[in-house]
Amino acid sequence: MSNRQLTFSIFRFNPNLPGDKPRMQEYKLEEQKGMSLFVALTKIREEIDPTLMFDFVCRAAICGSCAMMINGRPSLACKTLTKDLPSQITLMPLPVFKLIGDLSVDTGTWFRDLQVRTESWVHTSKKFDPKALEERMDNELAVQIYEPERCIECGCCVASCVTANIREDFLGATGINRVARFMIDPRDERSDADYFEVVGNEDGAFGCVGLMACDDNCPIEVPLQTQLAFVRRKMASAGLKLESGGLRKSG
Ligand code: SF4
Ligand code: FES
Repeated sequence: MSNRQLTFSIFRFNPNLPGDKPRMQEYKLEEQKGMSLFVALTKIREEIDPTLMFDFVCRAAICGSCAMMINGRPSLACKTLTKDLPSQITLMPLPVFKLIGDLSVDTGTWFRDLQVRTESWVHTSKKFDPKALEERMDNELAVQIYEPERCIECGCCVASCVTANIREDFLGATGINRVARFMIDPRDERSDADYFEVVGNEDGAFGCVGLMACDDNCPIEVPLQTQLAFVRRKMASAGLKLESGGLRKSG
């Protein structure tokens, strides 16, 4: 049986090229056994069009840099096999993030801002002692903290989120996931009132309209729905306690 002929319809636009206009461009390619979209794009760039822009680093679903809209859904190009797609493949850059060119977007600035907004580091009053022995952590708790830590910052959840698409200040599922990670970490001394300041509002846990496309489209299945429900519950009770005065971090 002969190989399929694939037709790629790819978004082209270089905002740094004077006079360039957004358009779709078609490329034909013969499918190879085990071909991923990353391999297909590399072939197009090497053999047909060296001007095509897209990102990749790890090619193993670890770095998060190759996320794009694949036939209308955000996903990782390196993890997507052409055999799982129809022969007509449409590729667009992720929305929400700043376009660098063609399929390449700047997720770095967005995620850096997010880390700053959510203060993504362990807040502790303990002085760092380089000679101190490592503190042991209960295995179950370590696994709980590891789950939100698995996020590779690809941006698929942000791109698929209706709120993030219309409100640029929305933290998105990945931001709320970040906050959840520190809320469950007993080394972090922030109070529920401190967290409430960051996520207890419409730009945070209460801005989500509940469509859960983030959870559906996370390519590495971070349990975003569970994290959101956890943060929402905590923030709802923190809000109630704030109304009746005084608040500390609760377990
Ligand atoms: Fe990507 Fe999932 Fe992290 Fe969102 S939560 S940025 S979809 S890895
Ligand atoms: Fe790193 Fe795809 S190239 S996740």
